[in-house]
Amino acid sequence: MRFYFLFLHIIFVHFFQPQIYAEKELVSSEHKIAVIGTGYVGLTAGACLAEFGNYVICCDIDEKKIKFLNEGGIPIFEKGLKELIDKNLALHRLEFTTDISQAIQNSEVILICVPTPMGQDGAADLSIVKSAVKTVAENLNNDKILLFKSTMPLGSIKRIQKLIQKQKKSAFNVEIAYLPEFLKEGTAVQDFFEPERIIIGTESKRLHQVIYDILAPLRIKNVPFCFTSFESAEIIKQASNSFLAVKISFINEIANLCDKTGADVREVAKGIGLDSRIGPEFLKPGPGYGGSCFPKDTHALLYEAQQLGVDLKVIQAAIEANDRQSKIVLEKLLKVLNSSIKDKTIAILGLAFKANTDDIRDSSAILIVNELLKRDAIIKAYDPIAMKNARKVLPQLVYCTSAEEAMYGADAVMILTEWEEFQKIDWSAVCNLMKTPIVIDARNILPIQMLRDLGFLYENIGCSHATGSDYE
Ligand code: UGA
Repeated sequence: MRFYFLFLHIIFVHFFQPQIYAEKELVSSEHKIAVIGTGYVGLTAGACLAEFGNYVICCDIDEKKIKFLNEGGIPIFEKGLKELIDKNLALHRLEFTTDISQAIQNSEVILICVPTPMGQDGAADLSIVKSAVKTVAENLNNDKILLFKSTMPLGSIKRIQKLIQKQKKSAFNVEIAYLPEFLKEGTAVQDFFEPERIIIGTESKRLHQVIYDILAPLRIKNVPFCFTSFESAEIIKQASNSFLAVKISFINEIANLCDKTGADVREVAKGIGLDSRIGPEFLKPGPGYGGSCFPKDTHALLYEAQQLGVDLKVIQAAIEANDRQSKIVLEKLLKVLNSSIKDKTIAILGLAFKANTDDIRDSSAILIVNELLKRDAIIKAYDPIAMKNARKVLPQLVYCTSAEEAMYGADAVMILTEWEEFQKIDWSAVCNLMKTPIVIDARNILPIQMLRDLGFLYENIGCSHATGSDYE
């Protein structure tokens, strides 16, 4: 019997053990790091830095969240994160606390990962960062290294540097670097272990070695480390996100053009993306980009440039095109329902701002649902994991336990997030479930010809006129 269990154990370890990314020989020198803020960035960075061999204390003012983490819960949906946290908690390289002062005093490196949300005027709101920095200044018990992962607006790091000088009551030194984050929600753990570059804005030469040490496994993998000025690092972060936002708005406009012609945007995107100067990524049209980063960073960069008298016309246009895109999707529905939405039942598949996340911040799906509610539609919604968050802002929706339940008796269905499970739906069965078989596929994930052959009135973004067999 014992051998049987031993055999099962070996099978489990070899085949089912979650993939842990850092290899033994890649472990870095052990730095004591306090991570302030346990959101998407802080929690992922904390767990991954612990995996690299550092000793990490993740802290947050949110007592409920820390209690949940200490009980083995994970407050966000992020692939691979739970395995990483469980492993490093067991190895005593990771801990969670609300005692931020203690965490700062016990660490040599402090990583700021708190949010910098968009203020009323489009500028990034730094109040949470400032309050975290004040806590650091008040708890200096030796020299500290302060690293910023939160997205910092142009000129802010130097301002924060001066603030610390003013606030600190001791002679201890605080050296600063800005390491902007390029993780994508949904693939954050993988992105942390396989980054395309590490950007470090700093004025301190001594910090180069500390950062090499903390991220040693990435150095061994030959990831480029680019040391820059504070301002360059600030612009690199916001310009990267803005460039990607421009790319999405660009393809959304081209998709809208395709709809007025016989062109198919999937063919067009493939054709232009094969030019390596353009590249194939971020050329998927949809209901407009959302999330906590692109809308915020484009507005913030625009605002900061305006303060300096610089007119960023391309980014302004990308924002305007994005604001219009969700309306274009809505118009497609209005058109097929002959403009009468009042008391119609609309099934909404997908509420998250993209697939593989439970995040609904600035989600186009939420924008579209709000517009439908204004027009007195009845909404039956389904999302594999974002419904818990959606319920908090849209309690009036009818939440369903499956896509089929949401579509039962509906006058039309809108696909607003590209969840893989929506592609596996048996549309021949759905055809008989719905009151009228109308599909608005705002993510272009369904086989067009098949749906049309089944008798659906089917609309999408940029390939409405696609004819013949489904595009491969
Ligand atoms: C984005 C950046 O991609 C990350 O590099 C960056 O670290 C992060 O912001 C941040 O600043 O923290 P994220 O917002 O998580 O990451 O998500 P993305 O995968 O970039 O998607 C953003 C939006 O663009 C989503 O609404 C998505 O549906 C949309 N999108 C993306 C498209 O409409 N088409 C595409 O081809 C790609």
